[in-house]
Amino acid sequence: MRSAMHDIPTHGETVTSSAPGKIILFGEHFIVHGTDAILCAIDRHVYVTAAKTESGIHITSDVGELKTSTITEDAPTTALMPLHHLARAAARRAGYSGGITLQVRSEIPPGAGLGSSSACCAAAASAVLGLLGLDVSDTAIMDAALDAERTIHPNLSGADTTASLYGGIFLYNRGVGYIGLEPHRADRFGLVVSNSGTAHDTDSMVRRVQRFRDNHVAIFSRLRKGERELIQRAVEILSDLEAGAAAESLGRLAAINQSYLRKIGVSSPELDRLVDAMQKITYGAKITGAGGGGCVVAFADAGSVRGIVTALQKMGYRDSFAVGIDEEGLVLSC
Ligand code: MEV
Repeated sequence: MRSAMHDIPTHGETVTSSAPGKIILFGEHFIVHGTDAILCAIDRHVYVTAAKTESGIHITSDVGELKTSTITEDAPTTALMPLHHLARAAARRAGYSGGITLQVRSEIPPGAGLGSSSACCAAAASAVLGLLGLDVSDTAIMDAALDAERTIHPNLSGADTTASLYGGIFLYNRGVGYIGLEPHRADRFGLVVSNSGTAHDTDSMVRRVQRFRDNHVAIFSRLRKGERELIQRAVEILSDLEAGAAAESLGRLAAINQSYLRKIGVSSPELDRLVDAMQKITYGAKITGAGGGGCVVAFADAGSVRGIVTALQKMGYRDSFAVGIDEEGLVLSC
């Protein structure tokens, strides 16, 4: 995290924070059940500006608005509720009884598997803690952001929030947290993303996988073992900088990972078609994030990414784009 805080802001002053979204390269869902996952932060961000006002909490964003007239009042259950929870909890901790406004601007499509809600909570947590003169250490921001997001996604692994906070490409382990991998070298592989346009709900997909695990204990345990081995192999590839280009071998692993995701029930006929289309013109594709809708990611040679995006768009997959890796993570400035 990069911090440029000066003095604690007074009335009328603002604190702005930005946080990147993420792509899960390998290990979504299985991370909730004890494997590791490999993620990278992406060059699409959420920006949150916090300011003190007379009273109440007022949140504005592209997905709507939420307003309460006092800072202690409950908020309705909407997509913005985590941010309200966060502002209210921080105000209580700071002994602050005035009001707070949060303005949210996002470059990340919501419900698409690219970490929009984690980036939102991470950026809002740092902006609000900074505004109220509270601790803005990584741990304090992580705790506040996770606490907020768990109001609507109670079983989150914390992987997405970690990407929004630290940036880069990394291995995530639920016990240890962030384990940095070698910094990404852009010539090793490129990433193409295509958005199916069907929004998903992370929590219901996580619950669906839990049901699959409960009903198919032996199959799930075999798949989890396969996922663990696959992730070990991916870490070796990503750590071996001498080996040069890695797109082909990572793409092969992505295709295997997708077969596991299909088995645990988080794909759909629509996503299967998108994965197949991407697989034909890349080294391998898979769902990224919770599935059920959202995005598919594919590995390709860095030099061929643009051509692949154009080809996908010609096939009718209009919302296809290249993503780069964000190395910076959360940025907090006064
Ligand atoms: C969601 O982006 C990723 C999941 O593995 C849930 C989580 O890790 O919290 C499905």
